[in-house]
Amino acid sequence: MDTQTIIIDKENIDEQAIARAGELIKRGGLVAFPTETVYGLGGNALDGKSAEKIYKAKGRPSDNPLIIHICDIDDLQYIVKSIPPEVYRLADSFWPGPLTLIMNKSSKVPMQTTGGLETVAVRMPSDSIALLLIKAAGGYVAAPSANISGRPSPTTSKHVIEDMQGRIDMIIDGGDADFGLESTILDLTGQVPVILRPGTVTLEMLLTVLEDVQLDSVLHTNYNKEPPKAPGMKYKHYAPKGEMHIVEGNRQAVIRYIHNKIEEEHSAKLGIICMEDTLKSYPQGVIIKSLGSRENENEIARNLYRVLREFDEEEVTLIYAESFDVNSGVGHAVMNRLLKAAAYHVVKV
Ligand code: TXA
Ligand code: MG
Repeated sequence: MDTQTIIIDKENIDEQAIARAGELIKRGGLVAFPTETVYGLGGNALDGKSAEKIYKAKGRPSDNPLIIHICDIDDLQYIVKSIPPEVYRLADSFWPGPLTLIMNKSSKVPMQTTGGLETVAVRMPSDSIALLLIKAAGGYVAAPSANISGRPSPTTSKHVIEDMQGRIDMIIDGGDADFGLESTILDLTGQVPVILRPGTVTLEMLLTVLEDVQLDSVLHTNYNKEPPKAPGMKYKHYAPKGEMHIVEGNRQAVIRYIHNKIEEEHSAKLGIICMEDTLKSYPQGVIIKSLGSRENENEIARNLYRVLREFDEEEVTLIYAESFDVNSGVGHAVMNRLLKAAAYHVVKV
């Protein structure tokens, strides 16, 4: 399949190009587009065949449901059974933005879109290109992250091209994603709202508009004990090609441990993930990448997936990542992704 890539300037959006992309989605095509979190792979959410095409293009199991992206809160009622009252408060504070809400679905949403579930995930992104595209596509765009299943989510158009060239109809290049981590997923179908996937809308932020919020128990207990409620969280996601270990402990002890590994591990191609302040603590000759400043967890979030992809490109076979003290909800979200990338291999020193 020929994949057309178009560049769109956020400051001066070519609405005709957006209209063409929207038309493609309406007719059952697939278009990758930027959002403020990561790039999405968009298809018509109300057409089961489009959902099937999305699963195929990503190589994703078809029991892993898609998020429906909307551009107007008035469009929500069509795709859900009823609107829980807290949705209006949440939308007032966090939409458009990186928050996905799970509700009971209406009969208008095909089972393929929800991976066979009676519930549906909905989000209104804040990216201006995304909002115009959703409108041009008829209001309901199903979009998972635009990566091949099992690879880190794409935060730049280059990542999307690497994974999706030849597999979809169009890629809209709209620059780098602002946040670099996928949206927070909040399940509103139970007694108490539950965070199924942490993101940049944090527990603390949600508690400013909701009386009670819980974290899905798998997010702070042993990953393997219970199946997570968001189907996608059970797959080994965000996985770099190399085996990865997170090293946790006092900063000097962590550096010493990684130094020893550099001495010992001659058969592997080593990569190290560190922070800005420890970048100079490691010898030359190994591949070292910083995620940014320990004090700026948003910066760490923005860099994580790019760094993981770079290690893949350089065919690193063994990665040691410094842990960092989590200071905020964003840090918690980054640590969640890092732990998954490392398949929960943590060394305590
Ligand atoms: O930031 C984001 O959310 C990005 C951008 C493109 O919007 N999208 C994204 O989609 O990360 P995806 O498909 O890569 O991740 C969606 C997650 C999966 O773990 C999926 O299992 C979960 O949402 N999910 C979707 N519908 C669900 C539902 N009805 N119940 C529980 N989990 C659901
Ligand atoms: Mg994904």
